[in-house]
Amino acid sequence: MTRFALALIAAALLAGCSKTDPDSPGAQRQAIFKDMLRTSEALGGMIRGRSSYDAASFQAGALKLKALASAPWSHFPEFDASGPSSAGAADFHAAAQKLESAATQLAAQTGTGVTMADVRPHFAAVEESCTACHKQFRPE
Ligand code: HEC
Repeated sequence: MTRFALALIAAALLAGCSKTDPDSPGAQRQAIFKDMLRTSEALGGMIRGRSSYDAASFQAGALKLKALASAPWSHFPEFDASGPSSAGAADFHAAAQKLESAATQLAAQTGTGVTMADVRPHFAAVEESCTACHKQFRPE
């Protein structure tokens, strides 16, 4: 019986997925966030010693993260000035701006000869901006 219930739930979840329109705002922003997560995890891996720090690949990742940092926000119609969450729109866009400037600063601090100690605080600021916005705006 439990197995059957699980199978039903799995089927329902799959059906839900296949119905998601890849052009919908939800699908587009999720694809960008996934890319953002992959990119920041690669940088975090170097910072935390899971992979070896290399100034050139760190810079490449930081530049990608900077480019991605401005990408999700136009896919949040609910936070448009006229959207249903317009009351929170200013806070949301301020949180987005924090990430954008943290990612810009991080990218600016990377390059040949830049040590891990140099980039670490800038990367921490990026991660803090992710967490701060998620705490306030990401639905559980
Ligand atoms: C300005 C707000 C904001 C910032 C900054 C932000 N996020 Fe998010 N993030 C969200 C919201 C809101 C969602 C939920 C999106 C949804 O439900 O479609 C989300 C969802 C996600 C998801 C889940 C995507 C999925 O498949 O459902 C990941 C992964 C993610 N964010 C990673 C990051 C990373 C990494 C950073 C920082 C580099 C970051 N986010 C910065 C608001 C933000």
